[in-house]
Amino acid sequence: MNTSKYIEIQGVEQTFRTPKGTFPALRNIDLNIAKGEFVALIGHSGCGKSTLLNLIAGLTQPTNGVLLCANREIKGPGPERAVVFQNHSLLPWLTCYENIFLAVERVFGGKESKAQLKTRTEAALALVGLTPAAQKRPGEISGGMKQRVGIARALSMEPQVLLMDEPFGALDALTRAKLQDELLEIVAKTQATVVMVTHDVDEAVLLSDKIVMMTNGPAATIGEVLSVELDRPRSRVALAESAQYLGYRKAVIDFLYTRQAHVEKTAA
Ligand SMILES: Nc1ncnc2c1ncn2[C@@H]1O[C@H](COP(=O)(O)OP(=O)(O)O)[C@@H](O)[C@H]1O
Ligand SMILES: [Mg+2]
Repeated sequence: MNTSKYIEIQGVEQTFRTPKGTFPALRNIDLNIAKGEFVALIGHSGCGKSTLLNLIAGLTQPTNGVLLCANREIKGPGPERAVVFQNHSLLPWLTCYENIFLAVERVFGGKESKAQLKTRTEAALALVGLTPAAQKRPGEISGGMKQRVGIARALSMEPQVLLMDEPFGALDALTRAKLQDELLEIVAKTQATVVMVTHDVDEAVLLSDKIVMMTNGPAATIGEVLSVELDRPRSRVALAESAQYLGYRKAVIDFLYTRQAHVEKTAA
């Protein structure tokens, strides 16, 4: 297998049918993602980041074009591609443990014993530092902890690909920084391929190997792809003063706020 083309997106177009007619959300999307690569999708609100992530997840099908994962067409969701949503989507009546166990059971239930499933669930909780909260329900824990459960649940499936849609968007800056650091460690450990939607420039530069910058919609497409060649492991403290880091940051800011400055819709 060609590992530089683990995920291939070829000529993808997504059009939505709306009561006002068809709406072209994405066009001419071409992108290759290597195995183990960390890719950030960045762009203004409404440009089609979630639409693209949902296509990779297999939750929706493109109007035109094709998406492949490991040389196979993506035709629906699969356990090798786990998704973390912004709103964590936990089941409120289940404990943190049970929320994760459910996913573990779905993926490994057919071939492993109850004890093995339990070990997997406990390991996932430990990975995100949530062992003490195992028996709590989502209503009893903070937003940052809920988001961690969502990440643990996704990781517990041992996915090849982790798809994240603004996973830290709703969190305060300190919690976000802590989870970003944890995510960096986890990804280094698991070697997962990650596609993360964000609109946070620092998050994109700190985490990514590649930043995919999208133009504004309608008919949004990839405007530019920036390779982030900062050594790993990365330290946010050290990078704050790195000229190389600041250069990447400026490139993304220029793209977003100069070249794709958001044009407010004016009444026709
Ligand atoms: N199911 C849908 N039906 C109609 N329009 C949609 C649908 N999903 C998304 N859109 C439109 O497609 C565009 C891109 O949406 P989205 O991918 O959610 O943007 P982003 O995640 O970048 O904020 C927006 O204009 C949105 O209104
Ligand atoms: Mg979105």
